[in-house]
Amino acid sequence: MQDIALQSAVTAIDARRIAAAPELAIVIPTLNERDNLEPLVALLAEALPDVAWEVIFVDDDSTDGTADLARALAQRDLRVRCLQRIGRRGLASACIEGILASASPYVAVMDGDLQHDERLLGRMLERLRRGDFDLVVGSRYVADGAVGDGLSDRRARASHLATRLARLVCKAQIADPMSGFFMFRRDVFHAAVRRLSGEGFKILLDLLASSPQHLRVCEIPFEFRKRRYGESKLDVMVVWEYGMLLADKMIGHLVPVRFALFALIGGLGLFVHLAVLWTGLKLFSLSFLEAQAGAVVTAMTSNFFLNNFFTYRDKRLHRWQLVRGLVSFYAICSLGAVANVGLASYVFRIDQIWWLAGIAGVIVGSVWNYAISSVYTWRR
Ligand code: GDD
Ligand code: MN
Repeated sequence: MQDIALQSAVTAIDARRIAAAPELAIVIPTLNERDNLEPLVALLAEALPDVAWEVIFVDDDSTDGTADLARALAQRDLRVRCLQRIGRRGLASACIEGILASASPYVAVMDGDLQHDERLLGRMLERLRRGDFDLVVGSRYVADGAVGDGLSDRRARASHLATRLARLVCKAQIADPMSGFFMFRRDVFHAAVRRLSGEGFKILLDLLASSPQHLRVCEIPFEFRKRRYGESKLDVMVVWEYGMLLADKMIGHLVPVRFALFALIGGLGLFVHLAVLWTGLKLFSLSFLEAQAGAVVTAMTSNFFLNNFFTYRDKRLHRWQLVRGLVSFYAICSLGAVANVGLASYVFRIDQIWWLAGIAGVIVGSVWNYAISSVYTWRR
C-alpha cells in the first residue's frame, strides 16, 4: 500500500519534470575544463533558482575527461547534458551545434571556465522575456563593466583593436561584440543559422553580422573574472581565424575567402619565381632554361607550404600526407600551367591583345589549381 503511494508520488514528480521543458538552455563549449564543471553547475543552480534551465556542455574530445565528468553529472542531474564531438575543433561551431541540440526558447552562450558571471543570467532572461530586446550581451566595456583581472595588458589592447574592426561588419551598435557571453531568443538564431560562417572564436560577432534583420541589443556590464583552473585556448591561430571571419563577412559574398587567399599566395609566388630566376641567372650563371625550371619548382613548393599553413589551416597535411600532397600539387599546377598557356595563346590569336590574353590564362590556371587542389591535395 505504502509502496504504491510512494510510486505514484515519484511518477507525479517525474511527470512534472518531463513536462517542464526548460525555458533556458545554457550552451557551454569546453576544451579541457574538467575542474570547472562541477563548481559551474552549482553556481548555475544557485543563480537560477526559479528558472527551468538546462546546461549543454559541448566538448571537443578533451583529453582531461571533461566529457566523462559531464556525463557523470548528467546522471545525477537531469538539467545537465553533454554533446561530445570527435575529430572536430572550434568554439563557434561547438556553440552552434549545442544550440541546435536543444529546444529551449531562450539560449545563452557562456564560457566553461568561470570567467563569466553567471549571476547575470537571470537579468538577461528577464530582459528577453519582456520582449524589448532580441539579444542581451554580457559586456566587458560599458558603464561600470570591467576587464577586471581576467585579461593581460597586451590582450586588453588587442581586444580593443579587434573590437573596433568588428564594428565594420556588425549591423548593431555594440560596445563589446567580442564577448563570449550572451543570450538570445531561439528564432533570432534560426533566422541567421544558415549564414553563419562558424569559423573560429567569435560566435557573437558572427551572429550579429549574419542576422537578416536588425537586432535590438541590450548590453549588461559585468566583470570578467580571472581563470582559476585550466588555461586559455586563445593562441595566434585564433587571431588569424578572426581575420578570416571578418574577411568572410566583408567579401565572402563576392569571392570565397579561401580562394582569395589562394590567389594572393599565387601572386606572391610570382615574386618568388622572379627572385629565383634572377638569382639563377645572375649569381649562378645558369642557362635560362635551368633557372626558369628552378624558379617554377621553388614557386610551386613555397605556394604549397603557404597554402598548407594559411589557406587550409583546418585541413593541414602532416608527415607522409604532406609528401603526397606536395606531389599532387606539383601535378595539378603543371596541368594548370598547360591550361594557362594554352588558353592565353588561343585568346592572343583571336584578339592580339597581349595583356588580355595573359590575364585570361592566369585566371583559368588559378581557378583550375584552386578547384582541383581543394579536392585532391587538401581532401578529407
Ligand atoms: N568545444 C570547444 N572547442 N570549446 C572550446 C574550444 C574548442 O575548440 N576552444 C575553447 N573552448 C572553450 C573553453 O574551454 C572555454 O570554456 C571557452 O571555450 C572559452 O575559451 P578560453 O580559452 O577560456 O577563452 P578566453 O578566456 O581566452 O576568451 C574569452 O574571452 C574572449 C574575449 O577576450 C572567450 O569568451 C572569447 O569568446 C572572448 O572573445
Ligand atoms: Mn576563458
